[in-house]
Amino acid sequence: MKTGSCSCGLSWFLSTIWFVSVSVSRAAEIDPLVYEEQLLWVGGTQGQVNTYRIPLLTFTHKGSLLAFAEARKFSSADTGAKFIALRRSTDKGATWSPTSFIVDDGKNPDGLNLGSVVVDEEEGLVIVIYSICFHLYHCSPASAMLVESRDDGLSWSLPRNLSVQLGAKAFMAGPGFGIQKRYNPAKGRLVVCGHGTIEGDGVFCILSDDHGRNWYNGAALKSIPYNQKKKPLDFNPDEPQLVEMLDGSIIVNARNQNNYHCRCRVVVRSHDGGLTLPIDDLFFDDTLVDPAVAAGILQKGGVLYFTNPFNATHRVNLTLKWSLTNGTSWEKKSVQIWAGPSGYSSITSLDTGSVDDRKYIYVIYEKGHKDYDETISFAKIHLYGGR
Ligand SMILES: *[C@@H]1O[C@H](CO)[C@@H](O)[C@H](O)[C@H]1NC(C)=O
Ligand SMILES: *[C@@H]1O[C@H](CO)[C@@H](O)[C@H](O)[C@H]1NC(C)=O
Ligand SMILES: *[C@@H]1O[C@H](CO)[C@@H](O)[C@H](O)[C@H]1NC(C)=O
Ligand SMILES: *[C@@H]1O[C@H](CO)[C@@H](O)[C@H](O)[C@H]1NC(C)=O
Repeated sequence: MKTGSCSCGLSWFLSTIWFVSVSVSRAAEIDPLVYEEQLLWVGGTQGQVNTYRIPLLTFTHKGSLLAFAEARKFSSADTGAKFIALRRSTDKGATWSPTSFIVDDGKNPDGLNLGSVVVDEEEGLVIVIYSICFHLYHCSPASAMLVESRDDGLSWSLPRNLSVQLGAKAFMAGPGFGIQKRYNPAKGRLVVCGHGTIEGDGVFCILSDDHGRNWYNGAALKSIPYNQKKKPLDFNPDEPQLVEMLDGSIIVNARNQNNYHCRCRVVVRSHDGGLTLPIDDLFFDDTLVDPAVAAGILQKGGVLYFTNPFNATHRVNLTLKWSLTNGTSWEKKSVQIWAGPSGYSSITSLDTGSVDDRKYIYVIYEKGHKDYDETISFAKIHLYGGR
């Protein structure tokens, strides 16, 4: 018996060494290549919709890809009536379903805004959180809303009003994805971060420890001055994307709305599953030059990937960068996905451990020739130069 468990331990030990050395050497080989790209939505073509914006992308627990966007009915403005548009792919983005509208806000003058998508792997649940009346334009109060799918994105629940649980404060989730914690602390928790209204802005996270039935307020990283009109260069962290690191901490990478300290990203880290975002763990990442926009970030196999329109002043030059050091530094090399106008972006990937799934990440972003809000594009990226 002793011999058996000993040889078992040895082969486990050897395979771990093999796995670690393989993943480390693969990390050094990262040489991303835009492998396939297709437009999922084009504004102004379909009568019902003026502009598509704010793309979200996620894999479901079953390996389907879901792409969401705001379908702005009458204009390109952030206010106004909208649908939530969805396209679904069961072959990792090669082909897509026609667009379905899963939420319709009617003729609301300050309709819905996306939003976060979060997948609860344990319950096989896809949740979308969005807001209505966020800008308080001819309406009040703002509400955080939730719809969910229990059949892999095919059908969706009626909207549920989360403000009943969260209180009256305006909360706009994302844009991007929320996470389900894979590691402790708080394994299994759903964490969704977003931002507040212009004066009460900042990064705020909401949490659920029971698969999205009940939500409560977690971390708050408030703007300064809080609840007061902002001036240029004030501290005003805004639209965040979060990722869980391999040590169970959460990195939040946020828009620096008023360019406090730099024209670059604000980064802050939570060590308690999203309950707090301590100032001690906040820094400005000068390498990640940014024109104040919602950016994409993803942790895959210990490597961090980041997408944004990499330019200090204009939404152009959608670029992919990567870090082999948990975001403390970024590789000098980067990949330009689109030179022209480009805006919000989001990244996802599939973590089945299969050889094929280790090779790809998937990016969705706003892309145009004259303006960044002309189309929503989907890019499949091979991490190892197509090899
Ligand atoms: C959501 O609930 C809050 C708190 O009860 C309420 O003030 C608000 O009007 C509700 N929003 C909607 C759209 O029903
Ligand atoms: C695009 O991004 C790269 C970094 O990846 C930067 O070197 C270059 O100056 C940027 N170009 C523009 C036009 O912003
Ligand atoms: C940023 O984009 C603007 C507009 O395209 C361009 O004129 C400028 O040179 C870019 N900045 C850098 C550093 O490339
Ligand atoms: C990144 O974080 C992981 C998990 O804490 C750690 O094992 C690894 O050494 C870190 N890498 C670097 C380069 O700091």
